[in-house]
Amino acid sequence: MKTSSKRRAIRSAAAPAVTQFPGSFPLIKRGHATYWPDLLDDHDSIASLDENLMDKFIIRGGNPLVGTIRVSGAKNAALPAMAASILTEEPVILENIPDVRDIRTERSLLQSMGAEVELAYGGDVHRTSLCCRNLSNPEAAYDLVKTMRASTLVLGPLIARTGRARVSLPGGCAIGARPIDLHIKGLERLGAKITQEHGYIEASAERLHGGQITFDKITVTGTEDLMMAAALADGETVMENCAREPEVSDLASLLNKMGAHITGAGTSTIKIRGVKKLGGAHHRIIPDRIEAGTFIIAASLTGGDLTVADCDPSHLGALFNKLQECGVAFSFNADSVSITNGHTLKAADISTEEYPGFPTDMQAQYMALATQAEGSTVVTENIFENRFMHAQELVRMGANIRVEGRRAVVRGRTPLSAAAVQCSDLRASASLVIAALVAEGETVLDRVYHIDRGYERIEEKLRAVGAQIERIGELFPKKSPSPVGVA
Ligand code: UD1
Repeated sequence: MKTSSKRRAIRSAAAPAVTQFPGSFPLIKRGHATYWPDLLDDHDSIASLDENLMDKFIIRGGNPLVGTIRVSGAKNAALPAMAASILTEEPVILENIPDVRDIRTERSLLQSMGAEVELAYGGDVHRTSLCCRNLSNPEAAYDLVKTMRASTLVLGPLIARTGRARVSLPGGCAIGARPIDLHIKGLERLGAKITQEHGYIEASAERLHGGQITFDKITVTGTEDLMMAAALADGETVMENCAREPEVSDLASLLNKMGAHITGAGTSTIKIRGVKKLGGAHHRIIPDRIEAGTFIIAASLTGGDLTVADCDPSHLGALFNKLQECGVAFSFNADSVSITNGHTLKAADISTEEYPGFPTDMQAQYMALATQAEGSTVVTENIFENRFMHAQELVRMGANIRVEGRRAVVRGRTPLSAAAVQCSDLRASASLVIAALVAEGETVLDRVYHIDRGYERIEEKLRAVGAQIERIGELFPKKSPSPVGVA
C-alpha cells in the first residue's frame, strides 16, 4: 500500500483533527477515537472505520488523578430494564443509559425481534425509548448471544409475553462455564415447556402460572429473568435464595412502575403477584457501582484528590470496608465519594461474594491495587472458576502474583513497568488500565473492545482528571481475494 494513497483517503474524510500524542506520532482524531494515519488505505473513509477497529490504549503512568469524574448509568441494570420492555406493547423510556457496546448489542437484539428502539446520547441526556408492540420474531440468535451473555435475559419476558421463545445457549466465556440451567429450571416451575436443539433453547407456554422457586445457587440474571416472567404469570410466585444486587431492585422498581406487583427485591425472598398486562413506564437507571468502584480504586492507587460523582455510595459498602483496611482516606455524601491523597496502602485480603459481599466484578481492579500495597494480599474468587486472566498480564508488568485454583496471592510493593498487554474480559481490562496508570513508561493495551462493552469512554473520563491515556485504532487485517479459479 502506498503512503500517498493513504494520505488521500485521510484528506477526503470530513475534516478530522490531527493531534500529536506527547513525544511521539501524529494521530487523527475522530469522535471518540484516534487513528494511526498509516493504517488507512484507499478503501477506508474515516467515517466508516468504527466497525473495523481493533482499538488499543496507550497509557503513560505516573500522573495522580485530580478533579471530578462522573459515573454513568449501570450497564447491568440497563440490560434487564431494556429486556423488560418486551413485557408490554406500550413504550418504555429509560434515562441514564450508558453509552457502551453491550447496550448497542441489546438494541440490535431487540430490533431483530421486531422492537422499535431509539438510543439518544448527548450531553447529560442518555435515553432509550423502546416499543415492543410488534414482536414478530421471538428469537435471540447465536451471533448476538455469543457476544453478550446477558442476551439470555430475553428468555423469560419472551415466553411470558408471546408464549414462545427461541434463545441460543450462550456457551462458555473467558471467566468460566456460566450455565443457565437455573433460568430453565425456574421457567419450568412456572409452566414453560423447554427443549434444547441445535444449540438453542426452545420454550413455549400457553400462559405461565405462579410457582415456588428456590434457586440452588444465587444468580443475578436468573433472578431477573424469572422476576420478569412471573410478573405476567397467573397467580403468585415466591422466589427464595434470590440475588440481592441493587440491579435486581432497580428492575423490580421499573416493573412495578409498569404495573407489576413485586415485593422483597433486594432481599433473598421476592414475591410476585402476576398481572394480566403491563404498561409503559419512564424510569431512571441507577448509577454504575462497578464503574464508580473502578475509579475509586484508580484514585486510591495513583494518589491525587479525586471526587467520583453521580454514584450511589450506599452500593459500595464492601469496597469501602476493604479500602479502610488498606488505609485509603475517603469521605462521601449522598451521591459522591472523594478520595484524598497521602496514604500508604496496606494489604487486606478479599473474598468475592454475592451482594452485599465484595463483588466479583471488582476483584480484578482490586488486584491491581494489591500489587502496590505493603504486605501480601490473598484474593479468593468464589463466583467464577476462571477469573484470574488479568493476573498473568499484571505479572508481565512486574507484579508478583501466584495463582492457586481459586486463590491468588499478591506480594505487594513491586514496581510496575509498562508492557504490551492484552484485555481478556471486561473487568480484567479495567484492572490493566489501573495498573498502567502507575506503571513506569508507556503501556500498550490491546483488545480494548472488551472495556468498551461496559465502560463509557473511559479514556476520555480518565484523561479529564489527569491520566495520560490515548485510544488508537488499528484495522483488522484485510482478507486476501480468493485465488482465480477457486470457487
Ligand atoms: C451477573 C453480572 C456479572 C457479574 C455476575 C456475578 C449482569 C448482566 N452480569 O452475571 O457482571 O459478574 O452477575 O455478580 O448482570 N450459575 C449457574 N447456573 C445458572 C446461572 C448461574 O450455575 O443458571 C452460576 C454461574 O456459573 C456463576 C454463579 O452462578 O458461578 C453466578 O452467576 P450469575 O449471578 O448468574 O451471573 P450473571 O447473572 O451471568
